[in-house]
Amino acid sequence: MSVPGAGGAAVNGAAVSTRSAAAVATHALRKEFGTRVAVEGLDLTINRGEVFGLLGPNGSGKTTTIRMLCALMAPTSGSAEVVGLDVVREGERIRERIGYMSQRYGLYDDLTVAENLRFYSTVYGLHGEARTRRLAEHAHAIGLDDRLHQLAGTLSGGWKQRLALACATAHEPEMLFLDEPTAGVDPAARRDFWTSIYELASRGTTILVTTHYMDEAERCQRLAFLSRGHLIALGTPKEITAKFGQQSVEDVFIELQRRDEEAGRKSVPLDHR
Ligand SMILES: Nc1ncnc2c1ncn2[C@@H]1O[C@H](COP(=O)(O)OP(=O)(O)OP(=O)(O)O)[C@@H](O)[C@H]1O
Ligand SMILES: [Mg+2]
Repeated sequence: MSVPGAGGAAVNGAAVSTRSAAAVATHALRKEFGTRVAVEGLDLTINRGEVFGLLGPNGSGKTTTIRMLCALMAPTSGSAEVVGLDVVREGERIRERIGYMSQRYGLYDDLTVAENLRFYSTVYGLHGEARTRRLAEHAHAIGLDDRLHQLAGTLSGGWKQRLALACATAHEPEMLFLDEPTAGVDPAARRDFWTSIYELASRGTTILVTTHYMDEAERCQRLAFLSRGHLIALGTPKEITAKFGQQSVEDVFIELQRRDEEAGRKSVPLDHR
């Protein structure tokens, strides 16, 4: 756990900030659930403006990592800074500056599109006139105007995904966490979604995205692979495929999953670098 009061150090009597300039910087981040260790020894740096992919089999710790970085769940130990703020001591401020699209979108099915947008914008700190204006512009930009009074639960998968992205970005966050944002949506919606991601990134938004679609992984600037809570590979798609002597990120994923299952059967720690 980070030490209260950390974040500044005295050098020659002057206070010098030790805050990270990176979008995400974790050190020995760990999360236990009872006797299960979901994330262990995670050292990860994500640069500002990066489109960064977090990959790994089911149960490898992706969602747990994201929830700790969004300051929705406290780490058991280790530390993490997001947009230069400590996830334990400055969670409130982090939540105002990030957007989070959760694995099943987190929409309220029995609220309308407009009500979901209003609810999330309030959670993220938008109020009053600014909120009304921003939401109207936003709904228009993503083509949701004529569905504003439809219940979210009655939207198709693709529209739910658009609404969830709108909810996570209405306050124009500097960093966006997307947990399997394209699961269960059709190819055209997936393509449109990635166009939106790149638009956001071109305006300087840092993106951390998880996916089980390897064509999407190939579109990320850098990737991290998790296996049973450990970081086992990190680099650009090209670097990772070269490192593991494979043709594609999909081949790497399958190979790493095979090793992961083997290590799990033997119950020995993975050689994780
Ligand atoms: N609240 C919780 N209580 C107990 N165990 C949990 C909890 N949340 C996650 N876990 C466990 O932690 C491990 C990591 O789960 P996590 O959801 O982070 O994986 P994931 O990589 O997101 O998987 P998926 O690809 O299926 O979404 C799993 O073994 C999971 O069962
Ligand atoms: Mg998950």
